[in-house]
Amino acid sequence: MKILGIETSCDECAAAVVENGGRVLGNVVASQIEEHRPYYGVVPEIASRKHLEWIVPVVKECLGQAGIAVAECDAVAATYRPGLIGSLLVGLSFGKGLAACLGKPFIGVDHVEAHLYAPRLEREIPYPYIGVLVSGGHTMISIVRGEDDLEVLGTTIDDACGECFDKVAKHYDFGYPGGAAVDRLAQKGDPHAFHFPKPSLHKGEHTYDVSYSGLKNAVCNQLEQFRNPKFPKTPENIAAGFQKTAIAILLDRVLLAVRNYGVYRVVVGGGVAANSSLRERLAGEPGLEAIFPPLKYCTDNAAMVAGLAFHKLKKNGPSSFDLPASARVRAFRRI
Ligand code: KG4
Ligand code: ZN
Repeated sequence: MKILGIETSCDECAAAVVENGGRVLGNVVASQIEEHRPYYGVVPEIASRKHLEWIVPVVKECLGQAGIAVAECDAVAATYRPGLIGSLLVGLSFGKGLAACLGKPFIGVDHVEAHLYAPRLEREIPYPYIGVLVSGGHTMISIVRGEDDLEVLGTTIDDACGECFDKVAKHYDFGYPGGAAVDRLAQKGDPHAFHFPKPSLHKGEHTYDVSYSGLKNAVCNQLEQFRNPKFPKTPENIAAGFQKTAIAILLDRVLLAVRNYGVYRVVVGGGVAANSSLRERLAGEPGLEAIFPPLKYCTDNAAMVAGLAFHKLKKNGPSSFDLPASARVRAFRRI
């Protein structure tokens, strides 16, 4: 079964054709980085207007890559939540319209679930594993025991991990997009130049939760307080100190979950999975199998949407054409 997936939840306009949930036949991502660079962040109005312009050529290019006509798609899937409402509406409305015209099933897909599915494209991963989602909008540590068996262990109690990278980069004018800019600078800096604090959320229900607003505040507003006077205050050193702490905050909780659950396989998805320090540190952890999807499936893409849609269709059937777009989702807070 070949499913056409569409993803327009933020600033990437993406389409993909995936066969049987795993084999990616076509995958096109049109990035709006240049459109948003002058504003140092995604401008929702610009994003949705660009999606309107780009959605048709992106889908056409993707079908061309896959070497199929649109009528050969067995179903159409689109992200319906969470994200920027105007952006979501473009892909969702387009996907529903196309499915209706073709007389094929439509499947609405949750963006966060799709990110967690991304590592499973083009490869099998045995269960169980600790699933880590780190993106610009979400930070989640979970235990995944089966195809439909995901338990959320912890989330961020404030800022998402990627959001913190973006805000620090914006504050110090490091470049846009922020996460990759910090990563590049950090590789040339000395991580000992700053000793930023880590949050202490040890008790009770917060065992696996993380927090990034304290680190953001320390780096942006209280820099001198945490500087080792032997080191200069360069962008490279600020980035290196920040990145070391941001990754340590996440890994403390991830490795605690690994030990407590005795699950020594960790699968990471989302844009921050591209971070070099996170990759190195997890790969160097003795006795641990760290699995990162290829970079093209870490950041926003439609292959993860089409891949997950296959399993959703098999299990629950098609979605209603009434399915609304939704900017936020509460379901991922631990219950
Ligand atoms: O998954 P994604 O493309 O979009 C969301 O669903 O949010 O993730 C984008 C996030 C941004 O916050 C970006 O700064 C971050 O991923 N990111 C990185 C790196 N590359 C992208 N963060 C740290 N290091 C990187 N190399
Ligand atoms: Zn995303």
